[in-house]
This record gives sequence, C-alpha cells and structure tokens, in this order.
Amino acid sequence: MTAVGIDAIEIWTGNLKLDLPGTFAPEKGEDPEKYTKGLGLNASSFPDSYEDIVTMGANAAHRLMERKGLEPDDIGRIDVATESAFDNSKPVSTYVAGCLEQVFEGDFHHANKGERKFACIAGTQSLDDAYNWIRAGRNRGRSALVIATDTALYARGDAGEATQGAGAVAMLISEDPNLVELSAEQGYGSADETDFLKPNQQFPSVDGKRSVQVYLARMREALEDYESVAGDVHEEDFAYAPFHTPFPGMVRKAALLAYRHVIRDTSLEDDLADEIGRQPRPEAFDTDDDYRDALREYMDLLKETEAYQEWYAETIDPTLSISREVGNWYTGSVHVARASALKHALENGRDMTGKALLVASYGSGAQAEIHSEVVREGWEDEIEALNVDEQLEDRYDMSWDDYEEVHDVHNHDMDVDVEEFTTPESEFVFDGWGRMGERK
Ligand code: CAA
Repeated sequence: MTAVGIDAIEIWTGNLKLDLPGTFAPEKGEDPEKYTKGLGLNASSFPDSYEDIVTMGANAAHRLMERKGLEPDDIGRIDVATESAFDNSKPVSTYVAGCLEQVFEGDFHHANKGERKFACIAGTQSLDDAYNWIRAGRNRGRSALVIATDTALYARGDAGEATQGAGAVAMLISEDPNLVELSAEQGYGSADETDFLKPNQQFPSVDGKRSVQVYLARMREALEDYESVAGDVHEEDFAYAPFHTPFPGMVRKAALLAYRHVIRDTSLEDDLADEIGRQPRPEAFDTDDDYRDALREYMDLLKETEAYQEWYAETIDPTLSISREVGNWYTGSVHVARASALKHALENGRDMTGKALLVASYGSGAQAEIHSEVVREGWEDEIEALNVDEQLEDRYDMSWDDYEEVHDVHNHDMDVDVEEFTTPESEFVFDGWGRMGERK
C-alpha cells in the first residue's frame, strides 16, 4: 500500500510578541515564574492589526506552495481547521483560496473546500479527512492542503489570557510523502463537555481548571482506544510524542499520566479521571480525599524517578520549544509540537528516518485522538526549510499599552485607532470583513 501522510509543512506566526515574564507578569502583579516555570511559557505570538486567520493561513500556504513549486492544479482539496472563524456560512478556505489565486497561475475551481470545527482537534481531523480522501482513491493524483489557523485570544483578565497565541500551520497531504506517513489506526476519547465554549462570542467562556481534567480524561481514553486497535504502547516505541499544547505545563501533566499507563504500573488501580467523578474510587480508600492524596503522592514520586525524567527529556521536552515562545495556536498547536520535535532531531543530528512518533491531539468540548506516524526519508530537507526561528526573532515586542490596543482591535472595537506595529513584507494583509486579503 502506498504511504499517505504529510509531505510538507510551513509555519506562520503572528507578527507581534507579548513577553510574559517581562511585560505581562508585572502588570498582573504575578511572579514571572508562574508563567515560565508553572505554565512553561516565555511569550505569546499575537496578530498585528492587519493580520487575521485568513492572512496567516494564506501566508503559510503561499510559502508552502512556492517552496514546493506547486500550482493550484496540484491541489484537489483545501480544508481550513479553525475555532476563530468569522463567517458562519462561507468557509475560511474560500477566502484563503482567493488570496492564493492572486499569486499563482490558474485557480482552485476544481478543488473541494471546507472548514473543520472541533476546537483544537480540528487540525488533526482535517489531516484524517485528507488521508481518507487519498486512500479512497478520490484525489485524481492531487494533494490536499490542510491549514490550521487561529487567533487564540481570551478576554482580558481571564485566566487563559496568559496562554494566548496566534499563528497558522499549512500542511500538504500526499501519497509517498516526504515528512511523515500517517498510521491507519487511531484511538478516540470523546464526550459532551462544557468546559470551553464560544457560542457566538468573540472570546471563549472557559472553566480552566476543569478543562485540564477533561483533557487528561479524554487523552487517557484515547490512548486505551488506540491500544485496542494498534496493540500496547511501550515507552521506548516512540522517538517523540507531540501532544496538543495549550501551554507546556498541560503537556507535563498529560505526559506523566501517559507514562504511568505505558509502563503498566498498577500499584494504584485508577488515575486522575477519578477527579471529575467518572470513575469509582478503589475500595482500598475510605474517602475521595484519601485516594486523591495517595494518588498525588504517587505521581510526585513517579515524576522524580530517573527513568521518567530521562524519557521526558528525550521524548516530550523537545516537542515544546516553539510552543514556549508562541503560546496556544489551538488547531495548529499539535502540529507545531511535531515540528519542534523534528527540528530538535535535525539540530542534534538524530537520524529519524523510519522512527515513530505518537501524536496526541485534543479539542475541548471534548475529544482526544491518538495516532502514530513514521518519519520518512525526506524529513531533513522539509524541516531545514522552516524559517520559524527568523519569524520568531522578527516579531515586534509589544509594550503593555500596545497589547491593550491590539487586543481591542481584534475584539472588533471600532473606536480604536488602528495602528500597525510592523510593516507587512510580501504577505497577505487583512482587507475588511468578508473580503479576501490583499498581498502587500
Ligand atoms: N513559580 C512556579 N510555578 C508557579 C508559580 C510560581 N511563582 N505560581 C504558580 N505556579 C504554577 C502552579 O502551581 C500551576 O502549576 P500546576 O498546575 O502544575 O500545579 C501553574 O503554575 C499554573 O498556575 P495556576 O493553576 O494558579 O494558574 P491559573 O489558574 O491562573 O491558570 C489555567 C491556569 C486555569 C489552566 C489557565 O491558564 C486557563 O484557563 N487556560 C485556558 C484553558 C486551557 O488552556 N486549558 C487546557 C486544557 S483545554 C485545551 O487544551 C484546549 C485549549 O487549547 C484551550
């Protein structure tokens, strides 16, 4: 069977930066280490006033198509995954296609365009759709363009404000891919949850603490479901395990839980899923509090073991390096984590061809998906082509006043004088609601 997977990837960050320890923490009266050590974040990427999900997605896709020498005729399908859409009818992919048609020869009239929504997991769902479309033989030799693009902004004063971010990831899904082959097996954990919602509102309503517990519970179900089709996972099976990363501290919790599962430790019969009341407490404990205390103590001890720390340093920590500098990109986040891991491998001379990744995606509301990927021979060239370090370096570092102004602009506050903090250079810029971006 011909391999199907990600042939190429490009990342586009919002052009502004919010320094968390230097600018955010003093304004909030918080210890900077709450952000750098607790949440694991140094900075967030932010969109300038001329950027939005369309421009960032189109800029990432443009870079990808240009680098790979593609024309619209090579693409049979464009799916945009986002939870920041501004149009309830016309999919964001049509706006993106309109941008790209200004630059490339030909058009996308032949292409099937859509928009995927299930919070942050929609990016991975779009990959799955593209994989299935190619596997079904409906692609007529063409590739799929999947774009995960979000402005992950929270209301000012919301606990989530420290985890904001903005950026896009464009991925080309093809037969015989250069970067990774996707596995046919997937595991799911899915339940109707109300921890994170955006019902016709600009910023989400979030129960942050509960969202953390729901993430862990769904992830554990997805891992068990994945094992039911792909066989047991062991800690040495995967070179890296990129997780959805709303902030690196979340992945620290998920990784510890996953590690406990894959080392098959049954010394405590249940796990943190108990905290949201879905599992009966083991009989050995008289009260829920006794059980919770024992569990915390056990997890703290496990975290300190040399074996765990080595596994974490090799398999998880390298997936977090870009996220630490950009915050949450919602649908793009797990794909940024994969790119971080492979960038780490390239920079450290690690031979990845034929090695496996365990990819753990998540969307609030809530669903987790686990699948595996095998790294392909062309991975080094693909990762070498990324210019993410330069993009991060070039961001404009906002003062607190700049931040408040640009936050209001993205909240569609029409009374704010729209200032541009950076000058667009050969990129699509926002051109008014409902219109496609203009290239400047
Ligand atoms: N030094 C070191 N560490 C410190 C510290 C200090 N001075 N002060 C606090 N910390 C640690 C805390 O102990 C805590 O770590 P642990 O969780 O390991 O104990 C961490 O820093 C964060 O501190 P708080 O829990 O006090 O932070 P908070 O309550 O202000 O915010 C949050 C945390 C509720 C998760 C908030 O960031 C939030 O609401 N985020 C948005 C929702 C979210 O991202 N949820 C994640 C799961 S849902 C998902 O993944 C989908 C998605 O993309 C949104």
